[in-house]
Amino acid sequence: GLPATVRIHEVGARDGLQNEKATVPTETKAEFIRRLADAGLTTIEATSFVHPKWVPQLADAEHLFPLVRDLTDLSDTALPVLVPNERGLDRALTLGASRIAVFASATESFAKANLNRTLDEALAMFEPVVERARGQRAHVRGYLSMCFGDPWEGPVPFPQVVRVCKALLDMGCDELSLGDTIGVATPGHVGALLSALNEAGVPTHTVGVHFHDTYGQALANTLAALQHGVTTVDASAGGLGGCPFAKSATGNLATEDLVWMLHGLGIDTGVDLDRLVATSVWMAERLRRPSPSRTVRALSHK
Ligand code: HMG
Ligand code: MG
Repeated sequence: GLPATVRIHEVGARDGLQNEKATVPTETKAEFIRRLADAGLTTIEATSFVHPKWVPQLADAEHLFPLVRDLTDLSDTALPVLVPNERGLDRALTLGASRIAVFASATESFAKANLNRTLDEALAMFEPVVERARGQRAHVRGYLSMCFGDPWEGPVPFPQVVRVCKALLDMGCDELSLGDTIGVATPGHVGALLSALNEAGVPTHTVGVHFHDTYGQALANTLAALQHGVTTVDASAGGLGGCPFAKSATGNLATEDLVWMLHGLGIDTGVDLDRLVATSVWMAERLRRPSPSRTVRALSHK
């Protein structure tokens, strides 16, 4: 069966904007996040406390985070931020962040490209981050990139994904997000991986899915995940995004496309689709390119 409600983890302001060429002013980002919350999204990833040279688009995290943290409209909104290491954690905690995400990889190649570390070195880097965050009662998400295919290594064997999931849960992560960074997964692969994880003792309720729509499979993959018991789905308003460290990555599953499907299935999301579409149209004007989301296009040309 399908779940009655799905929690959408909105990543447009982070995964979306990290890959935009145009520099988006900090105030515009804050307004984007405010509008996303106004459209009913309750978990909005705000930014990353990473090295500013690695992700210049998010180099304004110190300026942006206090702007959104202090908005009364956002007092009930969870605002997770990415942190790769203790330096990032210090920056986030100083500003009062209460939800963080570390980001691992199921493959060696991407750990190297994204974190300048071997996979084991990356996991060792996260260990004190997760421990200290939990000590501060912060909620911790553990991302895994390249869970299905990797641009350098090809298809990714299930045991590699199982190993990293277990390492992140053992460390103390509250939830996981399985990333299809380059969008190569298909629904049968998604179902098989989720079954393999479940059999290996990774509880499905700890697992969210993070699909990129490179091959147009993100919605089909999401439906397969829901049929396997997943209830947390990552998506990006307007389908913004990609990944600067994986050339073949395009935008995430568009939140509007996801909401259209979920509401059609009678699944509750709490999202007001018209307000969300208006937000993505507003953002597309600022980025000077149309949203790639089919649902945004359909509903904004009515
Ligand atoms: P490194 O060069 O190995 O860093 O980068 P280091 O540890 O050797 O330190 C070098 C210098 O950087 C030091 O300064 C540090 O203080 C500084 P120095 O002493 O030389 O003056 N530094 C920092 N400064 C600010 N904030 C920090 C920080 N850390 C070190 N946090 C590092 C290692 C991890 C920092 C780097 O590789 C990095 O920032 N990577 C981030 C990459 C990234 O953000 N990728 C995108 C997010 S993941 C993603 O998009 C996938 C996802 O969407 C899921 C999916 O689709 O698969 C989540
Ligand atoms: Mg991503």
